[in-house]
Amino acid sequence: MKPKIGILTWREGMTFREPVYFRQLLRAGRELGVTVFLFSPRDVQVKRRRIRGITLTDRGRWASRWFSWPDVVIDRYWYTPKPVFQEYVSFRKQPYFLYANNRFANKWRVHEVLYSNENMRKWLPETCTYTGEKGRLKEMLTRHRIIYLKPINGTGGRGILRIEKRGEHYHLLGRDKQRVKKAAVAKGSAGLISRVRQWVGQEKYLMQQGLELGLLPGRSVDIRLLMQKDEHAEWLVTGMGCRVGPKNSATANLHGGGKAVAADHFLTQCFSEEKAKQLIEECEQLAYETAAAIEAYFGSMMELGLDIGIDVQGRVWLIEINPKPGRDIFREMGQPDLYRLAVRRPLQYALTLASRKHSSLQPDEGRCAETKKSKTS
Ligand SMILES: Nc1ncnc2c1ncn2[C@@H]1O[C@H](COP(=O)(O)OP(=O)(O)O)[C@@H](O)[C@H]1O
Ligand SMILES: [Mg+2]
Repeated sequence: MKPKIGILTWREGMTFREPVYFRQLLRAGRELGVTVFLFSPRDVQVKRRRIRGITLTDRGRWASRWFSWPDVVIDRYWYTPKPVFQEYVSFRKQPYFLYANNRFANKWRVHEVLYSNENMRKWLPETCTYTGEKGRLKEMLTRHRIIYLKPINGTGGRGILRIEKRGEHYHLLGRDKQRVKKAAVAKGSAGLISRVRQWVGQEKYLMQQGLELGLLPGRSVDIRLLMQKDEHAEWLVTGMGCRVGPKNSATANLHGGGKAVAADHFLTQCFSEEKAKQLIEECEQLAYETAAAIEAYFGSMMELGLDIGIDVQGRVWLIEINPKPGRDIFREMGQPDLYRLAVRRPLQYALTLASRKHSSLQPDEGRCAETKKSKTS
């Protein structure tokens, strides 16, 4: 029997959040001789051990049918601030499947985990929770000319606010929940505090040291690095690229209008060739250390997308870790081979997990974290 890999995701009818990626994934599955199907928690009949899954017909149409239990499940469910997400959270806590990737946590929790690791600290911008206390905000601004406020459950640059102190004034630049750019100037700290309160509302936020990411003047530039486990269950850096944000944007996310360019080429233009090489090596070292630190706490992962900042002084910083990363950056950079590799690798890794499960060997991947640290969501 062909191995079966299920992709857990949100769906409504035949509408998915990542239709382009899922098509590629299903096609790659065919090439690898493995059955791949998409499903959401509501498609699962636990007692009957069957799942209403979605695949592609030969003509490239979405079609649903019943599948027996998958050997491995890849969790690709994205956060959404809706009740349906709570359904997913409780479903995901059940030990129904062998998952290729463990559960993760919000930005603040992840920061705490990494900060407790000595090796990681040098790469972490100063970060604390936003409590609404004016003292804390003011204090942060005495140490850093720029600070960032970010929703702890945010994605894609939504809800992010950059505050820059210029004399008595504060320049605010952000992205609202719809990712629309917003700019304002607050006069004095009283003005700042009321604007920030309004921006944050009832959401949970963190405050972070702002990094000077203007390698290209007037733009935010950062690096997206994708690391994945291969068929030997070993971490590899699949590739990395620079994202150049649009003018007057506090963020460089591709979905917020950022453009992707080759990292080595871009960095060589900003620094010497030697320094650019060093920076890329440091990003890779950061990636492997991050994967080790994350897995030590959260259990086995399958792939991680790291947002890395390189400031104008040439220092490397870890901005964010994405446990369910996209791979569009490779296509945007004009590297279709890397894109294809990035689509194939998760399936190859899942196949390795499936074969370990069926052999007499105990799988050493993918089973530990649910029991280990089940308090993190
Ligand atoms: N501390 C910071 N200093 C400078 N730029 C930042 C900082 N934090 C985030 N950014 C910019 O905002 C983008 C989005 O922030 P990130 O933490 O990755 O949140 P999201 O989950 O919304 O992608 C980053 O890719 C980077 O361009
Ligand atoms: Mg990000």
